[in-house]
Amino acid sequence: MFFDGKHSETSNKFIKNSPSMLNNIFGTEDVTPMWVADMDFVIANPIKEELLRLANRAQFAYEFDSESVFNAISKWFKKRHALELKTENFTQVSGVLTGIALLIRELTQEGEGILIQSPAYHQFAKVIQTANRKLVKSPLEIVDGNYQMNIEDIENKLSAPDINLMILCNPHNPVGRVWKKDELIELTEIANKHNVTIISDEIHADIIYEGHTFTSLMQIDPEHHISLIGSPSKTFGLQSISNGYIYTENQNLHQRVKAASSSMYLDHGNAFTTFATIAAYEHGEEWLDQLIEYLSGNLSWIKNFLSTELPEVKASPVEGTYQIWLDFNDLNLEGDRLIEVFGTAGFGASPGTWFDSNATSFARVNFAIPLSEIQKTFIALKQTLADINTHASSTNGASKKQACC
Ligand SMILES: Cc1ncc(COP(=O)(O)O)c(C=O)c1O
Repeated sequence: MFFDGKHSETSNKFIKNSPSMLNNIFGTEDVTPMWVADMDFVIANPIKEELLRLANRAQFAYEFDSESVFNAISKWFKKRHALELKTENFTQVSGVLTGIALLIRELTQEGEGILIQSPAYHQFAKVIQTANRKLVKSPLEIVDGNYQMNIEDIENKLSAPDINLMILCNPHNPVGRVWKKDELIELTEIANKHNVTIISDEIHADIIYEGHTFTSLMQIDPEHHISLIGSPSKTFGLQSISNGYIYTENQNLHQRVKAASSSMYLDHGNAFTTFATIAAYEHGEEWLDQLIEYLSGNLSWIKNFLSTELPEVKASPVEGTYQIWLDFNDLNLEGDRLIEVFGTAGFGASPGTWFDSNATSFARVNFAIPLSEIQKTFIALKQTLADINTHASSTNGASKKQACC
Protein backbone atom coordinates (compact mmCIF):
# COMPACT_ATOMS: atom_id res chain seq x y z
CA MET A 1 0.00 0.00 0.00
CA PHE A 2 2.74 2.48 0.91
CA PHE A 3 5.35 3.38 -1.60
CA ASP A 4 8.93 3.37 -0.53
CA GLY A 5 11.27 5.87 -2.13
CA LYS A 6 10.93 9.27 -3.76
CA HIS A 7 7.70 10.48 -5.25
CA SER A 8 7.91 9.87 -8.98
CA GLU A 9 5.23 12.31 -10.04
CA THR A 10 6.70 15.63 -11.13
CA SER A 11 3.51 17.57 -11.84
CA ASN A 12 2.64 18.23 -8.21
CA LYS A 13 3.16 21.53 -6.43
CA PHE A 14 3.58 20.10 -2.93
CA ILE A 15 4.71 22.82 -0.54
CA LYS A 16 7.14 20.48 1.18
CA ASN A 17 9.12 20.15 -2.08
CA SER A 18 9.03 23.82 -3.06
CA PRO A 19 12.61 24.79 -3.98
CA SER A 20 12.14 28.38 -2.80
CA MET A 21 10.75 27.25 0.57
CA LEU A 22 13.51 24.69 1.04
CA ASN A 23 16.19 27.21 0.13
CA ASN A 24 14.63 29.72 2.43
CA ILE A 25 14.54 27.38 5.41
CA PHE A 26 17.61 25.17 4.94
CA GLY A 27 19.74 27.15 2.48
CA THR A 28 19.53 24.20 0.07
CA GLU A 29 16.94 22.19 -1.86
CA ASP A 30 18.78 19.00 -1.15
CA VAL A 31 16.91 17.87 1.96
CA THR A 32 14.36 15.15 2.67
CA PRO A 33 11.24 17.17 3.48
CA MET A 34 10.03 16.29 6.98
CA TRP A 35 8.84 19.78 7.88
CA VAL A 36 5.19 19.80 6.80
CA ALA A 37 2.63 17.69 8.67
CA ASP A 38 1.42 15.76 5.64
CA MET A 39 2.16 12.33 4.18
CA ASP A 40 4.29 10.72 1.51
CA PHE A 41 1.88 7.80 1.17
CA VAL A 42 -0.78 6.99 -1.40
CA ILE A 43 -4.30 7.53 -0.14
CA ALA A 44 -6.75 4.71 0.59
CA ASN A 45 -8.10 3.03 -2.55
CA PRO A 46 -11.78 3.75 -1.83
CA ILE A 47 -10.99 7.48 -1.69
CA LYS A 48 -8.93 7.35 -4.85
CA GLU A 49 -11.69 5.47 -6.69
CA GLU A 50 -14.23 8.05 -5.60
CA LEU A 51 -12.02 10.91 -6.80
CA LEU A 52 -11.43 9.14 -10.13
CA ARG A 53 -15.15 8.56 -10.52
CA LEU A 54 -15.75 12.28 -9.97
CA ALA A 55 -13.01 13.37 -12.36
CA ASN A 56 -14.47 11.10 -15.03
CA ARG A 57 -17.92 12.50 -14.43
CA ALA A 58 -16.86 15.82 -15.92
CA GLN A 59 -19.92 17.65 -14.65
CA PHE A 60 -19.64 19.89 -11.66
CA ALA A 61 -22.91 21.64 -11.08
CA TYR A 62 -23.57 23.07 -7.58
CA GLU A 63 -23.59 20.09 -5.28
CA PHE A 64 -23.73 20.39 -1.49
CA ASP A 65 -24.45 17.62 0.94
CA SER A 66 -23.16 18.40 4.42
CA GLU A 67 -25.75 16.07 5.98
CA SER A 68 -24.14 12.95 4.47
CA VAL A 69 -20.71 14.24 5.49
CA PHE A 70 -21.85 14.70 9.11
CA ASN A 71 -23.44 11.23 9.08
CA ALA A 72 -20.20 9.66 7.91
CA ILE A 73 -18.20 11.57 10.57
CA SER A 74 -20.66 10.58 13.32
CA LYS A 75 -20.52 6.89 12.39
CA TRP A 76 -16.73 7.05 12.30
CA PHE A 77 -16.43 8.63 15.77
CA LYS A 78 -18.88 6.12 17.22
CA LYS A 79 -16.97 3.16 15.83
CA ARG A 80 -13.46 4.47 16.34
CA HIS A 81 -13.77 6.48 19.57
CA ALA A 82 -17.09 5.36 21.12
CA LEU A 83 -18.32 8.94 20.79
CA GLU A 84 -21.96 9.82 20.15
CA LEU A 85 -22.10 12.90 17.91
CA LYS A 86 -25.44 14.26 16.73
CA THR A 87 -25.44 15.41 13.11
CA GLU A 88 -27.45 18.54 13.96
CA ASN A 89 -24.61 19.87 16.14
CA PHE A 90 -22.01 20.04 13.37
CA THR A 91 -21.02 23.10 11.41
CA GLN A 92 -19.08 22.62 8.23
CA VAL A 93 -16.05 24.79 7.50
CA SER A 94 -13.46 24.49 4.79
CA GLY A 95 -10.62 23.50 7.12
CA VAL A 96 -9.58 23.53 10.76
CA LEU A 97 -7.63 26.80 10.59
CA THR A 98 -10.51 28.47 8.78
CA GLY A 99 -12.76 27.21 11.57
CA ILE A 100 -10.47 28.54 14.29
CA ALA A 101 -10.15 31.91 12.52
CA LEU A 102 -13.94 32.11 12.35
CA LEU A 103 -14.36 31.12 16.01
CA ILE A 104 -11.82 33.72 17.13
CA ARG A 105 -13.74 36.46 15.34
CA GLU A 106 -17.10 35.22 16.54
CA LEU A 107 -16.20 34.58 20.19
CA THR A 108 -13.72 37.33 21.05
CA GLN A 109 -13.10 41.03 20.48
CA GLU A 110 -10.00 42.67 19.02
CA GLY A 111 -7.32 43.17 21.66
CA GLU A 112 -8.47 40.28 23.85
CA GLY A 113 -6.05 37.55 24.82
CA ILE A 114 -6.25 33.94 23.60
CA LEU A 115 -4.35 31.22 25.44
CA ILE A 116 -2.35 28.45 23.80
CA GLN A 117 0.10 25.98 25.31
CA SER A 118 3.62 26.37 24.03
CA PRO A 119 5.31 24.90 22.13
CA ALA A 120 2.29 24.84 19.84
CA TYR A 121 1.40 24.32 16.20
CA HIS A 122 2.81 27.52 14.73
CA GLN A 123 -0.28 28.59 12.80
CA PHE A 124 -2.14 29.13 16.09
CA ALA A 125 0.00 32.19 16.75
CA LYS A 126 -0.63 33.50 13.24
CA VAL A 127 -4.38 32.93 13.29
CA ILE A 128 -4.60 34.75 16.65
CA GLN A 129 -2.32 37.66 15.82
CA THR A 130 -3.68 38.31 12.33
CA ALA A 131 -7.11 38.69 13.94
CA ASN A 132 -5.59 41.43 16.14
CA ARG A 133 -5.96 39.34 19.28
CA LYS A 134 -3.23 38.98 21.87
CA LEU A 135 -1.26 35.74 21.94
CA VAL A 136 -0.95 34.42 25.50
CA LYS A 137 1.22 31.36 26.08
CA SER A 138 1.25 28.86 28.89
CA PRO A 139 4.42 26.78 28.57
CA LEU A 140 4.10 23.02 28.87
CA GLU A 141 6.44 21.57 31.46
CA ILE A 142 8.48 18.41 31.33
CA VAL A 143 7.66 16.17 34.27
CA ASP A 144 9.18 12.67 34.44
CA GLY A 145 10.33 12.92 30.84
CA ASN A 146 7.01 13.93 29.32
CA TYR A 147 5.13 17.15 28.68
CA GLN A 148 2.42 18.18 31.11
CA MET A 149 0.03 21.10 31.30
CA ASN A 150 1.04 23.70 33.85
CA ILE A 151 -2.35 23.96 35.51
CA GLU A 152 -1.31 26.66 37.95
CA ASP A 153 0.02 28.86 35.16
CA ILE A 154 -3.10 28.22 33.05
CA GLU A 155 -5.33 29.20 35.96
CA ASN A 156 -3.31 32.36 36.51
CA LYS A 157 -3.63 33.37 32.89
CA LEU A 158 -7.27 32.41 32.45
CA SER A 159 -8.21 34.49 35.46
CA ALA A 160 -7.32 37.67 33.55
CA PRO A 161 -10.52 39.49 32.59
CA ASP A 162 -9.48 39.94 28.95
CA ILE A 163 -8.98 36.21 28.23
CA ASN A 164 -12.16 34.42 27.17
CA LEU A 165 -10.81 31.82 24.78
CA MET A 166 -8.23 29.06 24.81
CA ILE A 167 -7.09 26.77 21.98
CA LEU A 168 -6.36 23.24 23.13
CA CYS A 169 -4.46 20.92 20.81
CA ASN A 170 -5.36 17.27 21.47
CA PRO A 171 -3.35 15.25 20.49
CA HIS A 172 -0.75 17.94 20.85
CA ASN A 173 1.31 19.13 17.88
CA PRO A 174 4.34 19.22 18.20
CA VAL A 175 5.01 17.30 21.44
CA GLY A 176 2.72 14.34 20.68
CA ARG A 177 0.83 14.20 23.98
CA VAL A 178 -2.62 12.59 23.96
CA TRP A 179 -4.25 14.35 26.88
CA LYS A 180 -5.70 12.08 29.53
CA LYS A 181 -9.20 12.25 30.94
CA ASP A 182 -8.13 13.64 34.32
CA GLU A 183 -5.96 16.32 32.68
CA LEU A 184 -8.90 17.41 30.54
CA ILE A 185 -11.24 17.42 33.53
CA GLU A 186 -8.87 19.68 35.46
CA LEU A 187 -8.54 22.00 32.48
CA THR A 188 -12.28 22.32 31.85
CA GLU A 189 -12.94 22.97 35.53
CA ILE A 190 -10.55 25.92 35.46
CA ALA A 191 -11.93 27.19 32.15
CA ASN A 192 -15.50 26.96 33.44
CA LYS A 193 -14.56 28.73 36.67
CA HIS A 194 -13.22 31.68 34.66
CA ASN A 195 -15.87 31.57 31.91
CA VAL A 196 -13.35 30.72 29.24
CA THR A 197 -14.43 28.80 26.13
CA ILE A 198 -12.05 26.10 24.91
CA ILE A 199 -11.67 25.31 21.24
CA SER A 200 -10.47 21.72 21.13
CA ASP A 201 -8.48 21.14 17.95
CA GLU A 202 -8.68 17.36 17.56
CA ILE A 203 -7.42 17.10 14.00
CA HIS A 204 -4.84 14.44 15.03
CA ALA A 205 -7.40 12.35 16.97
CA ASP A 206 -7.08 9.24 14.81
CA ILE A 207 -3.31 8.86 14.98
CA ILE A 208 -2.90 7.26 18.40
CA TYR A 209 -0.23 4.70 19.34
CA GLU A 210 -0.55 1.54 21.39
CA GLY A 211 -1.00 2.10 25.10
CA HIS A 212 -2.78 5.44 24.65
CA THR A 213 -6.43 6.33 24.25
CA PHE A 214 -7.82 9.46 22.69
CA THR A 215 -10.32 11.36 24.82
CA SER A 216 -12.28 14.09 23.11
CA LEU A 217 -13.29 17.19 25.02
CA MET A 218 -16.78 16.01 24.02
CA GLN A 219 -16.46 13.17 26.54
CA ILE A 220 -15.50 15.60 29.30
CA ASP A 221 -17.70 18.65 28.93
CA PRO A 222 -19.97 18.70 25.87
CA GLU A 223 -21.97 21.66 27.15
CA HIS A 224 -19.58 24.58 27.51
CA HIS A 225 -17.00 24.42 24.76
CA ILE A 226 -16.27 23.93 21.08
CA SER A 227 -15.79 20.28 21.90
CA LEU A 228 -14.25 19.26 18.66
CA ILE A 229 -12.83 20.82 15.59
CA GLY A 230 -11.52 18.30 13.11
CA SER A 231 -11.00 17.18 9.57
CA PRO A 232 -10.14 13.98 7.67
CA SER A 233 -6.98 15.58 6.29
CA LYS A 234 -4.35 14.33 8.78
CA THR A 235 -5.94 10.89 9.14
CA PHE A 236 -6.27 10.12 5.45
CA GLY A 237 -3.62 12.26 3.78
CA LEU A 238 -6.18 14.66 2.29
CA GLN A 239 -4.37 17.87 3.18
CA SER A 240 -5.10 19.56 -0.13
CA ILE A 241 -8.66 18.25 -0.37
CA SER A 242 -9.51 20.26 2.66
CA ASN A 243 -12.63 19.78 4.71
CA GLY A 244 -13.31 20.74 8.30
CA TYR A 245 -16.01 20.57 10.92
CA ILE A 246 -16.88 22.19 14.21
CA TYR A 247 -18.93 20.39 16.85
CA THR A 248 -20.58 21.70 19.99
CA GLU A 249 -23.63 20.69 22.00
CA ASN A 250 -23.95 24.16 23.46
CA GLN A 251 -26.87 25.44 21.41
CA ASN A 252 -26.04 29.09 21.87
CA LEU A 253 -22.49 28.53 20.64
CA HIS A 254 -23.69 26.24 17.86
CA GLN A 255 -26.20 28.75 16.50
CA ARG A 256 -23.62 31.54 16.55
CA VAL A 257 -20.97 29.44 14.84
CA LYS A 258 -23.40 28.11 12.26
CA ALA A 259 -24.65 31.58 11.43
CA ALA A 260 -21.11 32.94 11.15
CA SER A 261 -20.02 30.12 8.83
CA SER A 262 -23.14 30.49 6.72
CA SER A 263 -22.79 34.28 6.51
CA MET A 264 -19.37 33.80 4.94
CA TYR A 265 -20.59 30.97 2.69
CA LEU A 266 -18.11 28.61 4.31
CA ASP A 267 -20.70 26.06 5.38
CA HIS A 268 -20.38 23.66 2.48
CA GLY A 269 -17.69 21.64 0.78
CA ASN A 270 -17.27 21.00 -2.91
CA ALA A 271 -17.86 17.77 -4.83
CA PHE A 272 -14.32 16.51 -4.26
CA THR A 273 -14.17 17.28 -0.54
CA THR A 274 -17.67 15.91 0.04
CA PHE A 275 -17.19 12.56 -1.69
CA ALA A 276 -13.60 12.13 -0.52
CA THR A 277 -14.62 12.74 3.10
CA ILE A 278 -17.52 10.30 2.93
CA ALA A 279 -15.38 7.62 1.25
CA ALA A 280 -12.61 8.15 3.84
CA TYR A 281 -14.82 7.82 6.89
CA GLU A 282 -16.99 5.03 5.46
CA HIS A 283 -14.30 2.89 3.82
CA GLY A 284 -10.90 4.06 5.06
CA GLU A 285 -10.58 2.15 8.32
CA GLU A 286 -8.51 -0.78 7.09
CA TRP A 287 -6.08 1.60 5.39
CA LEU A 288 -5.80 3.68 8.57
CA ASP A 289 -5.01 0.61 10.69
CA GLN A 290 -2.21 -0.24 8.29
CA LEU A 291 -1.00 3.35 8.33
CA ILE A 292 -0.78 3.38 12.14
CA GLU A 293 1.12 0.11 12.08
CA TYR A 294 3.57 1.58 9.56
CA LEU A 295 3.95 4.81 11.53
CA SER A 296 4.54 2.82 14.74
CA GLY A 297 7.37 1.02 12.95
CA ASN A 298 8.89 4.35 11.88
CA LEU A 299 8.57 5.70 15.40
CA SER A 300 10.21 2.62 16.95
CA TRP A 301 13.06 2.85 14.45
CA ILE A 302 13.67 6.53 15.25
CA LYS A 303 13.55 5.99 19.02
CA ASN A 304 15.87 3.01 18.81
CA PHE A 305 18.30 4.84 16.52
CA LEU A 306 18.40 7.87 18.79
CA SER A 307 18.92 5.88 21.97
CA THR A 308 21.66 3.70 20.52
CA GLU A 309 23.38 5.97 17.95
CA LEU A 310 22.60 9.54 18.95
CA PRO A 311 21.77 9.52 22.67
CA GLU A 312 22.51 13.26 22.95
CA VAL A 313 19.37 13.97 20.89
CA LYS A 314 16.36 13.61 23.17
CA ALA A 315 12.93 12.77 21.74
CA SER A 316 9.45 13.41 23.10
CA PRO A 317 7.65 10.11 23.83
CA VAL A 318 4.99 10.59 21.04
CA GLU A 319 1.66 9.16 22.16
CA GLY A 320 -0.15 10.38 19.04
CA THR A 321 0.36 12.37 15.76
CA TYR A 322 3.09 11.66 13.23
CA GLN A 323 5.39 14.36 14.55
CA ILE A 324 8.33 13.85 16.85
CA TRP A 325 9.83 16.71 18.86
CA LEU A 326 13.60 16.51 19.17
CA ASP A 327 15.89 18.33 21.61
CA PHE A 328 19.50 19.06 20.52
CA ASN A 329 20.42 20.93 23.69
CA ASP A 330 22.96 18.33 24.86
CA LEU A 331 24.89 18.88 21.62
CA ASN A 332 25.03 22.62 22.21
CA LEU A 333 23.35 23.12 18.89
CA GLU A 334 20.76 25.83 18.46
CA GLY A 335 19.28 28.51 16.25
CA ASP A 336 20.78 29.12 12.81
CA ARG A 337 23.65 26.73 13.50
CA LEU A 338 21.21 23.85 14.09
CA ILE A 339 19.39 24.58 10.84
CA GLU A 340 22.69 24.84 9.00
CA VAL A 341 23.54 21.35 10.26
CA PHE A 342 20.14 20.12 9.03
CA GLY A 343 20.88 21.63 5.58
CA THR A 344 24.25 19.85 5.43
CA ALA A 345 22.71 16.54 6.52
CA GLY A 346 19.66 16.86 4.23
CA PHE A 347 17.57 16.59 7.40
CA GLY A 348 14.46 18.63 6.52
CA ALA A 349 12.92 19.09 9.98
CA SER A 350 10.98 22.17 11.13
CA PRO A 351 12.93 24.55 13.38
CA GLY A 352 11.67 24.46 16.97
CA THR A 353 11.40 28.26 17.05
CA TRP A 354 8.39 28.03 14.74
CA PHE A 355 6.50 26.46 17.66
CA ASP A 356 8.01 28.47 20.49
CA SER A 357 10.51 31.31 20.15
CA ASN A 358 12.44 29.84 23.11
CA ALA A 359 12.78 26.39 21.50
CA THR A 360 16.04 27.27 19.75
CA SER A 361 17.59 23.83 20.24
CA PHE A 362 14.49 21.90 19.20
CA ALA A 363 13.09 20.59 15.92
CA ARG A 364 9.94 18.82 14.78
CA VAL A 365 10.18 15.86 12.44
CA ASN A 366 7.25 14.60 10.42
CA PHE A 367 7.75 10.85 10.19
CA ALA A 368 4.86 9.99 7.82
CA ILE A 369 7.39 9.21 5.12
CA PRO A 370 8.90 5.92 3.91
CA LEU A 371 11.13 4.24 6.50
CA SER A 372 14.00 4.09 4.02
CA GLU A 373 13.94 7.92 3.84
CA ILE A 374 13.89 8.23 7.60
CA GLN A 375 16.82 5.87 7.92
CA LYS A 376 18.77 7.75 5.26
CA THR A 377 18.27 11.15 6.88
CA PHE A 378 18.89 10.11 10.49
CA ILE A 379 22.07 8.27 9.48
CA ALA A 380 23.18 11.35 7.50
CA LEU A 381 22.47 13.53 10.54
CA LYS A 382 24.63 11.31 12.72
CA GLN A 383 27.43 11.46 10.13
CA THR A 384 27.23 15.25 9.85
CA LEU A 385 27.38 15.60 13.64
CA ALA A 386 30.37 13.27 13.76
CA ASP A 387 32.11 15.30 10.99
CA ILE A 388 31.52 18.50 12.97
CA ASN A 389 33.01 16.88 16.07
CA THR A 390 36.03 15.63 14.18
CA HIS A 391 36.53 19.04 12.64
CA ALA A 392 36.12 20.78 16.01
CA SER A 393 38.57 18.49 17.77
CA SER A 394 41.15 18.77 14.95
CA THR A 395 40.82 22.57 15.05
CA ASN A 396 41.15 22.50 18.83
CA GLY A 397 44.11 20.16 18.47
CA ALA A 398 45.76 22.48 15.94
CA SER A 399 45.26 25.52 18.12
CA LYS A 400 46.57 23.63 21.16
CA LYS A 401 49.64 22.65 19.18
CA GLN A 402 50.14 26.22 18.17
CA ALA A 403 49.64 27.33 21.73
CA CYS A 404 52.12 24.87 23.07
CA CYS A 405 54.80 25.27 20.35
C1 LIG B 1 -3.10 20.99 15.26
C2 LIG B 1 -3.39 21.38 13.84
N1 LIG B 1 -4.50 22.10 13.55
C3 LIG B 1 -4.78 22.47 12.30
C4 LIG B 1 -3.96 22.13 11.25
C5 LIG B 1 -4.32 22.59 9.87
O1 LIG B 1 -5.60 22.13 9.52
P1 LIG B 1 -6.28 22.59 8.16
O2 LIG B 1 -5.34 22.23 7.07
O3 LIG B 1 -7.56 21.80 8.13
O4 LIG B 1 -6.51 24.04 8.26
C6 LIG B 1 -2.80 21.39 11.49
C7 LIG B 1 -1.87 21.06 10.41
O5 LIG B 1 -0.75 20.68 10.62
C8 LIG B 1 -2.51 21.00 12.83
O6 LIG B 1 -1.44 20.28 13.13
